[in-house]
Amino acid sequence: MRYLTFALTKGRLAKKTMELLEQLGITCEEIQDKNSRKLIFVNEELKLKFFLAKGPDVPTYVEYGAADIGVVGKDTILEEGRKVHEVCDLGFGKCRMCVCGPASAAEYLKHHELIRVATKYPKIAKDYFYNKKHQTVEIIKLNGSIELAPLVGLSEVIVDIVETGSTLRENGLDVLEEVCPLSARMIVNPVSMRMENERIKDLLAKLRTVLQEG
Ligand code: PRP
Repeated sequence: MRYLTFALTKGRLAKKTMELLEQLGITCEEIQDKNSRKLIFVNEELKLKFFLAKGPDVPTYVEYGAADIGVVGKDTILEEGRKVHEVCDLGFGKCRMCVCGPASAAEYLKHHELIRVATKYPKIAKDYFYNKKHQTVEIIKLNGSIELAPLVGLSEVIVDIVETGSTLRENGLDVLEEVCPLSARMIVNPVSMRMENERIKDLLAKLRTVLQEG
């Protein structure tokens, strides 16, 4: 039996994923050791390997088959546009992709004005404004602290993730429109899906049972 390899998104998503997998009897003690600099973790008994990667790299590893299975946010799946099968909504990491800005910017959206949109997610923003809203905008790619952009006059609005809404509140910004709901998803390499069908199907069936039981 060959190893099935999981690419997990470093940080909170990986932690939640391991907690979920534990409920299926899949454990990996090595991965819990925070002081370890090891990159790949193995469960010899079940012939599973796990590695941690930055979110945007997870779909890349899965598309190329370097990992059979990945766990990553829906935002990253949409933004990266890789050829992977999305097989399961894991139900954690829930948040929303939204158009946000000062309340006054609502008018610009209403009248389809040519505004500047700052975002870490240019593809999602472009798809939303051009294909869904049919509004021509200028998209400005940023790498973090997106809420700064309307505060310092870089853009009229932003497209960003809203979880609790506290970053917006503390900076006097509002959700103006909702783009889509987000959560952690499991993705699978299309070839692995065929070649390791039985093992992956079995894993998914168990996963869905655990998820349904809540
Ligand atoms: C994310 C997101 C928002 C914030 C939303 O940023 O981009 O800024 O969290 O969460 P809230 O609604 O609970 O306040 P993150 O902290 O990941 O870092 P970043 O700003 O560098 O992208």
